[in-house]
Amino acid sequence: MRVGILGSGLMGGKLGTIFARAGHEVVFSYARSTEKLKKLARGVHGKAHGSARAGTPSEAAQKADALLLAVHWSRIEDVLNQTGDLSGKVIMTCSLPMNVDNTELVVAHTSSGAEELARRLPKARVVSAFNTVPSEVLFGVYEAKSKGRRPSLVYCGDDKGSKAVAAELIRDVGFDPLDAGPLRIARYTEPFALFVAEFA
Ligand SMILES: NC(=O)c1ccc[n+]([C@@H]2O[C@H](COP(=O)([O-])OP(=O)(O)OC[C@H]3O[C@@H](n4cnc5c(N)ncnc54)[C@H](OP(=O)(O)O)[C@@H]3O)[C@@H](O)[C@H]2O)c1
Repeated sequence: MRVGILGSGLMGGKLGTIFARAGHEVVFSYARSTEKLKKLARGVHGKAHGSARAGTPSEAAQKADALLLAVHWSRIEDVLNQTGDLSGKVIMTCSLPMNVDNTELVVAHTSSGAEELARRLPKARVVSAFNTVPSEVLFGVYEAKSKGRRPSLVYCGDDKGSKAVAAELIRDVGFDPLDAGPLRIARYTEPFALFVAEFA
């Protein structure tokens, strides 16, 4: 698949690298330095069956089969203003709706960041995925994937096709994808993800 990465920090950088090593065509985008994006792309070469390159958010979104949204909640509007039209696109979001101090969720209980995103982009196909796992463990899971039982990773969304795309990518990272139901389940998984992050 062609996978666009919006936000190439701890989550986007690691997941993008793993997606490329698993055979996908990855575009890293959205960081303060283009050199950082290029370095990430260079880092997967040699070991990859897929490919990776640096690009703009608009290049990452163009022709993408899936997009990973991995920016701080406060940057979402900015990155979406740079992607162009995302109608019909599968967007896996791992972004938690945190305040700027990262001390609490600014959307919770009766809604979730994923649902707010879906409201912001009514023609996109939003799936909430990867937010319940700390970035520190991603490579460990990927490298250990052939050894025995896989850890589960929950995801949720309202669109069958986009969930199938997310499940494939979750499997490629080395997890057993666990369909938690419709997108509104993110109201439960996002607070859980915050707890996991604090605990980690
Ligand atoms: N880290 C985790 O373990 C974890 C787990 C679950 C969910 N999440 C969620 O995933 C999302 C991303 O987290 P993260 O830890 O990957 O964050 P991060 O390492 O800070 O990465 C955020 C990305 O946004 C870019 N960015 C920030 N400000 C920018 C600006 N003004 N202009 C252009 N680019 C800018 C960063 O660029 P630079 O690299 O140049 O700073 C980086 O590429 C967050 O919503 C977080 O809540 C994280």
